[in-house]
Amino acid sequence: MESVVSFIKQNKDRYVADLVEFLKIPSVSSNSSHNKDTERCAHFVADMMRKVGLERVEVFKTSGHPIVYSEWCKAPGRPTVLVYGHYDVQPVDPLVLWDTPPFEPAIRNGEIYARGAADDKGQIYIHFAAAEAHLKQQGKLPVNVKFLIEGEEEVGSENLDRFIEAHKDWLKSDVVLISDSPMFERGVPSICYGLRGLCYYQIDLRGTRTDLHSGSFGGAVANPNFVLAQLLASLKDKNGKVTIPGFYKDVKPLTARERKEFKRLPFSDKKYAKELGAPALWGEKGYSTLERIWARPTFEVNGILGGFTGEGAKTVIPAVAMAKISMRLVPNQDPEKIAKLFEKHFKKICPKSMQLTVTRMHGGRPWVASLDHPAIHAASKAFEKGFGKRPVFTREGGSIPVVATFADILKAPSVLMGIGLPDENAHAPNEKLDLGNFHGGILSSAHFFEILGHAA
Ligand code: BES
Ligand code: ZN
Repeated sequence: MESVVSFIKQNKDRYVADLVEFLKIPSVSSNSSHNKDTERCAHFVADMMRKVGLERVEVFKTSGHPIVYSEWCKAPGRPTVLVYGHYDVQPVDPLVLWDTPPFEPAIRNGEIYARGAADDKGQIYIHFAAAEAHLKQQGKLPVNVKFLIEGEEEVGSENLDRFIEAHKDWLKSDVVLISDSPMFERGVPSICYGLRGLCYYQIDLRGTRTDLHSGSFGGAVANPNFVLAQLLASLKDKNGKVTIPGFYKDVKPLTARERKEFKRLPFSDKKYAKELGAPALWGEKGYSTLERIWARPTFEVNGILGGFTGEGAKTVIPAVAMAKISMRLVPNQDPEKIAKLFEKHFKKICPKSMQLTVTRMHGGRPWVASLDHPAIHAASKAFEKGFGKRPVFTREGGSIPVVATFADILKAPSVLMGIGLPDENAHAPNEKLDLGNFHGGILSSAHFFEILGHAA
């Protein structure tokens, strides 16, 4: 391992230079005007894999964005690690809020700023660099590895699910390694063992054929903005409980042990509120902040559109109003079941004065893992080597839809060794990755391969 570690130390600057090139590609999966860039990014990933020394490098076309695969499977008798990550990124708007352009990576105070720096390009790169260090220094890897890097994580991973189902024998692995999550706190490496699921909708209301003069017609027809606000507001009560009938029925309650473990983590509501710039925290009554984020479902309004919002005043009753809403789900809620409950309830409460269109968008299932898998121990030791500190065990509020698929179809446990940070600004302006974590992540990944390979 010494030569592997010194290789990683010597190549520190080159890793950053590679990451800069990776981050320059605007692979925004949700925006079709970027389809060419997204495809170019898939080929960039494939080229990186070739340079690292991985084999069977292939870019698979899908009905959406390509999936990139490669492997090095020449360690018979050793475990097989499937490394998963995504090269697609979230949209960048509002652009004016970025201090430097999102696809012109800039380094300030030891952090690299660009869309995708933390989510997830910087985090996938660490595993390429780790594999390369082993291959270049030892001519081999201590484990078998398969890399599966997709371009549709930010839009629900539907094509990947189909791909895994179709190639389950070939993708068979003992453990899935994923870095696509933040650490609990700066300097505190974390292994994440739970994620929330997601159920997403667009709601459209139409009140009349066209916008109307609010003096001539106001009072005679319902206003879609008003109705939308009333409907949305009714979906959560004053205690922060979602009011959709049956919504909580399958929620797996937190065990007393888990609640205790959460309480032991170094977390302060006051500090958290201050960091977020929130005058006060708010959430479901009876639960702590970490419990609310990690183990309780929520209903959120992501955006509302309707009526006149320009300069000055305009007296108008808008014809239409729209909202994007989403529900974060926890074990054992099923997105399909929740979708039915939501649609039934929303159609029921929508007044006859509105024409309602409910459009389901992407989603994902929640996931929680057991902590007694040998790969979890290997990850824990690897983090200790890479960051000089034992990791804490966390759950997360975000979603990685494919993780539940790995569990169901490949029957493989996932180990989430994220090296992002809570203030990484993922999905927001000024996304960044701490370069110390980037380097520590490469070391940790190299140690993970080594420890797992010799644990067998
Ligand atoms: N990296 C995140 C997932 C994540 C976020 C894990 C926070 C842990 C903490 C991932 O790229 C992501 O944003 N996923 C989407 C999935 C959705 C579009 C189906 C999410 O959570 O919104
Ligand atoms: Zn993301």
